[in-house]
Amino acid sequence: MSKSIDDLKAAFAGESQASRKYLSFARKADSEGFTQIARLFRAASHAETVHAHNHLKALEGIQSTAENLQTAISGENYEVVTMYPDFIRDAEEEGAKKALTSFKWAMDVEMVHEELYRKALAALEAHEALADTLYYVCPVCGFTHAGPLEGKCPVCGTPGERFERID
Ligand SMILES: [Fe+2]
Ligand SMILES: [Fe+2]
Repeated sequence: MSKSIDDLKAAFAGESQASRKYLSFARKADSEGFTQIARLFRAASHAETVHAHNHLKALEGIQSTAENLQTAISGENYEVVTMYPDFIRDAEEEGAKKALTSFKWAMDVEMVHEELYRKALAALEAHEALADTLYYVCPVCGFTHAGPLEGKCPVCGTPGERFERID
């Protein structure tokens, strides 16, 4: 049984990566005018997402929303406190500029995610409703904001009007 658990974890990681990779490939295909190939990448991406959800479910990795928020907080906190600081040090040592920028942007945004998740969990536990608003995400660095953003992204400087609204 434990072999199947390990296999599910590996399959979840692989399918999750494939779904994201195919979306990146779809964007590239679109930019090169390959509309049908872009559609194929997006369709396969969605299918890999279905597989990833199935694997996570089989792993019993989806719990109550309060527990899921705690899991999310722990994950973001690990990235902010341990993972990205280590990766940033490696990138600085090696002079890997693109990696350094990518890691710094992600770390700054994971801090915001941790905070948003903490507030959501606190509200849930207090039986209070969160403010009814849509979230907006920076298309360049991923900065996440409750409501539309006036001015520029505090992490990468992209104008707030370019942010994507998440329904
Ligand atoms: Fe995050
Ligand atoms: Fe940004």
